[in-house]
Amino acid sequence: MSTTAVLCLDAICMSSMRTCKAHSKIMEKPCILTTMLGPKGIYKCFKPCIETHFTIIEYEEFLERKEHFAEKIRAIFVWGMYLKVNRELLQALPKLQVVVNGGVGVDHLDIPLINSFGVKVCNTPHIVDNSTADIGMALMLASARRILEGHNYSKYHESAYPPESTLGTEVSGAILGIIGMGRIGFKVAKRAQSFDMRILYHNRNRRTEEDERAVGAVYCEKMEELLQKSDFVMIVVSLSPQTHKLIGAKELAMMKPSSTLINISRGLVVDQDALVDALQKKIIKAAALDVTYPEPLPRDHPLLSFPNVIVLPHMGTHTVETSRIMVEKMVVNALAVLNGEQPPDEVKI
Ligand SMILES: *[C@@H]1O[C@H](CO)[C@@H](O)[C@H](O)[C@H]1NC(C)=O
Ligand SMILES: *[C@@H]1O[C@H](CO)[C@@H](O)[C@H](O)[C@H]1NC(C)=O
Ligand SMILES: *[C@@H]1O[C@H](CO)[C@@H](O)[C@H](O)[C@H]1NC(C)=O
Repeated sequence: MSTTAVLCLDAICMSSMRTCKAHSKIMEKPCILTTMLGPKGIYKCFKPCIETHFTIIEYEEFLERKEHFAEKIRAIFVWGMYLKVNRELLQALPKLQVVVNGGVGVDHLDIPLINSFGVKVCNTPHIVDNSTADIGMALMLASARRILEGHNYSKYHESAYPPESTLGTEVSGAILGIIGMGRIGFKVAKRAQSFDMRILYHNRNRRTEEDERAVGAVYCEKMEELLQKSDFVMIVVSLSPQTHKLIGAKELAMMKPSSTLINISRGLVVDQDALVDALQKKIIKAAALDVTYPEPLPRDHPLLSFPNVIVLPHMGTHTVETSRIMVEKMVVNALAVLNGEQPPDEVKI
């Protein structure tokens, strides 16, 4: 990382610290439990924002002195996949009031179980839209224009001329099919519009004509139609019983052989085995995935062996700006619950 980047990161952390101080009301700092700060949890640069209000107990520390901490912990901050909020943990924390998830998707949390302990669940909606829409575009462009292969080529080959197999496809003027036109899908459409893409979308509910006109998107009542016509299919739905394996062998078979699947939604929305099969049989051309099932994907998984597949380790919200706002939101939600107020982002099912 360059010095400028480090300085910039520091400046942002300082500003988030100030924001947090402004909200501070509680004198004695309650304890929160979280995964170890650092690569497996909340990054260390966001620590000051949390510590303005809370004492952080890292999970490993907790495991070593459970009795000492059990009565003190009033909130759990879930960041990533490493901290499992299961019955055993819930039983061990009698003073727990809230589980706050960094991010929108809460399919990894057993909300009825958590609620049955009188504990609320909160997430951080709305704020991830820009960064998630951006990563959708990044994946589409990187896949279409063979960015990774080009970089690899520069690194390992003497010749200036990459082989025919690295010829990309044009994004400008291509047809983008967006499955799931919620806030993030809409922002993807807005971005794609400035690439002069033709935009189709499928959604449970049709958007207003005004919305459609604003981003130049055409509604496909049947997902089939969208799959058949699109050069790029981007999946932006949330995981629910209705979207579980929404894209399977049948759907992949409807896609053009020249098309690319981009997944920025949630694992399990795509039937991954069917995807591997479709790529092997060249039923579709390429895939670019921010999400996989499981995460992380085993390093010997077939998806990682295709040159025409990009897999990211769930980096949709992985920016300084969005991460900072997520941490701030987590703090705000936890504080509200501990103060006996209704938190702004409670997840109810
Ligand atoms: C998303 O980006 C737009 C345009 O820059 C900005 O106005 C908006 O505040 C951003 N939203 C979030 C949640 O960061
Ligand atoms: C990168 O280049 C090396 C050397 O030619 C090759 O073995 C490898 O498969 C390439 N990887 C990708 C992702 O293109
Ligand atoms: C889409 O991403 C989700 C989330 O990781 C994953 O479970 C699913 O398998 C993916 N679908 C496809 C077709 O890659």
